[in-house]
Order: sequence, then structure tokens, then C-alpha cells
Amino acid sequence: MSEHNFVTRDGSTPLDHDQIKGIRFSHLTTMGELDEIEDTNIQKGLEWLHHQDHENILSMEFLCKLHEKLFGDVWKWAGKFRTVEVNISKYRAYDVGPQLKNFFDDVRLWIDGGKMNWDEIAAEMHHRLVTIHPFPNGNGRTTRIFTEYVQKRFGQKVSTWKSSLSPTPKARRDLYIKALRAADRGDFLLLIEFMQEKK
Ligand SMILES: Nc1ncnc2c1ncn2[C@@H]1O[C@H](COP(=O)(O)OP(=O)(O)O)[C@@H](O)[C@H]1O
Ligand SMILES: [Mg+2]
Repeated sequence: MSEHNFVTRDGSTPLDHDQIKGIRFSHLTTMGELDEIEDTNIQKGLEWLHHQDHENILSMEFLCKLHEKLFGDVWKWAGKFRTVEVNISKYRAYDVGPQLKNFFDDVRLWIDGGKMNWDEIAAEMHHRLVTIHPFPNGNGRTTRIFTEYVQKRFGQKVSTWKSSLSPTPKARRDLYIKALRAADRGDFLLLIEFMQEKK
């Protein structure tokens, strides 16, 4: 695997050597090929997600299962928490479990409390979960899919993450990362706006 040279895009987590060793394919050489096999796995994971009844979706168990279903054909470490520190997260690896427990408790309170509207809940939920950054990789994709699924299960319309910008993927990604960085500073307006286009 030493010849692998996966270039990282802005706002994504670089894979460390041990994580790259966890790949289940030996013939991949480019980021494009990796994207492709991950996409195939994600499509299969989405089938699983949308064609079964899932109980207790606001839980660590469900989140790990979802990550495993989305990435488990590609990465041996899918569904398992990261053990290394990452720049994107202010939380240490040992704190992922406790932070997730608090996170799910808070999300239940936000939903049951009735004081926040769903745009606020979805944006805060998405940001907090990517900030905890539970897994070595795939956090952005898993968290967007998780957020959409929670919206759906609670009878809400589902964010498209500004699909109107899909002809210009770089502009779309830049706006998304800018919105997350504003949320890092406690300003959720950009992220709420970014998530407002729904289907
Ligand atoms: N400043 C930031 N604050 C919070 N989350 C961020 C920030 N920058 C990037 N992210 C999130 O981290 C994700 C990248 O993490 P990664 O584990 O590589 O996910 P993926 O492999 O699905 O892209 C981005 O898609 C985004 O959701
Ligand atoms: Mg990544």
C-alpha cells in the first residue's frame, strides 16, 4: 500500500499511514479510484438505510452501524472510532465516546424541548457531529447522510446541501466549509442558509 498517494481536498481529514493500511483493496492508486469504490459502498449503505426500520437512531450504536454500512466494504476500520487526533476536531480521540453521549442527549432535548426550529436543530446537529469527528474518515459524508435521515424520520424535509450549486462543485464545497468555519465561531446563519434548500 506504500505507493498510495491520496491527495486530500480542502476541509477533509488526511488519512494516516495506519488508516491507509486498513483498505480492503490492493489495486487502487488514485483518489479518483478510491472515490469510486467508496461511492459504490455508500450506495449500498443507503439501500440498507432506507429499506429497513431502524430503532433508536439517536444513538452511538446506530451511528457506528451507519458508518460501517457506508464504508465497511472499503475500510477495515469502518464503524470504529478514531484513535488519533485530528485538526478539525477540538476533541481528543479518548473523548469521542463521552462527547457523542452528550451530543445524543442534547439532540433529544432539542427535539423534545420545542424551543428550536428544525433548521436550527439540523444545522447544530450537523456541525456538532462533524466537529466531534468520531471516525478516521468519512465523517462529512456519514454526518450529512445521518442529518438527512434524522430530518426524514422526524417528518421534516431533507437538506440537499445546496444542490443548486452542483454544476460548480468547488463553489459548493467552499461555501459549505465557510459555513462550517462560521459555525466553529458560534455563528450558524451561513450553515442554516446552506442547509435551507430541501427536497
Ligand atoms: N472547520 C470545520 N468545522 C467543522 N467541520 C468541518 C470543518 N472543516 C471540515 N469539516 C467537516 O469535516 C469533513 C471532512 O472529514 P472527513 O472525515 O474527511 O469526511 P469525508 O471523508 O466524508 O469527507 C467535511 O466534509 C466537513 O463536514
Ligand atoms: Mg475524507
